[in-house]
Amino acid sequence: MIFNGLSEVGDDPILLVSTMYRACTNPNKVDLGVGVYKDADGVTAILKTVKKAEQYLVTHQETKGYISPAGNPDFNMAVQKLLFGDDHPALKEGRVTTIQAPGGTGGIRIGAEFIKTCKPDATLWISDPTWPNHYGIAKGVGLKTKPYRYYDIKKGEFLYEGMIEDLKQAQAGDVIVLHGCCHNASGADLSVEQWNELADFMAERDLVPFIDIAYQGFANGIDEDAYAVRHFCEKLPEVMIASSYSKNFAIYRDRAGAVTLVSATAELNKVNASHMLLAVRGIYSMPPDHGAAVVAHILGDDELRAEWEAEVDEMRSRVKEMRHLFVKQMAEKAPNSGFGYIGEQNGMFSFLTLTAEQIQSLIHDHSIFMMANGRVNIAGLTKSNIGYVTDAVASLFKS
Ligand code: LMR
Repeated sequence: MIFNGLSEVGDDPILLVSTMYRACTNPNKVDLGVGVYKDADGVTAILKTVKKAEQYLVTHQETKGYISPAGNPDFNMAVQKLLFGDDHPALKEGRVTTIQAPGGTGGIRIGAEFIKTCKPDATLWISDPTWPNHYGIAKGVGLKTKPYRYYDIKKGEFLYEGMIEDLKQAQAGDVIVLHGCCHNASGADLSVEQWNELADFMAERDLVPFIDIAYQGFANGIDEDAYAVRHFCEKLPEVMIASSYSKNFAIYRDRAGAVTLVSATAELNKVNASHMLLAVRGIYSMPPDHGAAVVAHILGDDELRAEWEAEVDEMRSRVKEMRHLFVKQMAEKAPNSGFGYIGEQNGMFSFLTLTAEQIQSLIHDHSIFMMANGRVNIAGLTKSNIGYVTDAVASLFKS
């Protein structure tokens, strides 16, 4: 027997929140856990453009035969346009390969496998805090990891100087995992000046960026949010990018993502792509088709693309509105609670600067579900539940 030597491991800290929320019977319960967008009615609806694309596919798709390990070529081209815009030098030089992957997670996994193939002793530097699964993926591949300072959860402060200080210890050839926009979990992003400085810093030290971009469009706009990707790919010879379309197309369960590699030359790029495709073949052989086909159809049609951008604008605006309403209500209900920083941050996530006991009280006494470290999904707030949430948070500040 071999299947008898293990002890049970705990749930993933994000997925655990969903399990707790589902099990709760309080009619006032609020889910601020997993990073899924909800509309003004608290519903994760299917985008209109996605429905149209699906209808198109039902009518026009003629086969369910295999695609290929690289996935849908139209999707891969569309991903490159979203990430790089129309005329990025790396694209013109033929130094870019995009491979469709099962979600952003699949993209990170393939990227990490390729790093392991190229430099098995590379260290993956990961922001503290981060999306916990970055560690899970690195462990799965067998890459070493080290944290770098990024954000002080207790003070609600972005630690750019601390980040640079820590990254000074990275060795040439180490890989730095960066969140392209809407940092998960802090919502704190680098400014354009900081991205520029970081790119120069990394180029001087021969550090390789691995940009995880899962929320393009949720900070300031599709092109604006690609700034880091485009700038790093101009300044550095090698960049790895994992991108997800779960959030900005709201097709979470369809698992549409990609990994994009920029190599130093077109020749190297061809060789590198062959190794990445070998990794794909060995792990899942080929990616699922449906979500990527939907994205490719929307982005390949000018009218649908414009409609989709409007849908992304609407999601972004609603999250920003909830951020501002939260800050306003907290300032009224608990003037010294100090949540102003939430209005400045990007994307779905922010931390509540609360103690572990206060967070547990929100979860257990008020059925407001969030990660145990205080990460909240702002998109889980609606005009109907925000008063309940801010009352509960304010109650923690009353003695
Ligand atoms: C999150 O951070 O909540 C999302 O990216 C969902 C996930 O898979 O963890």
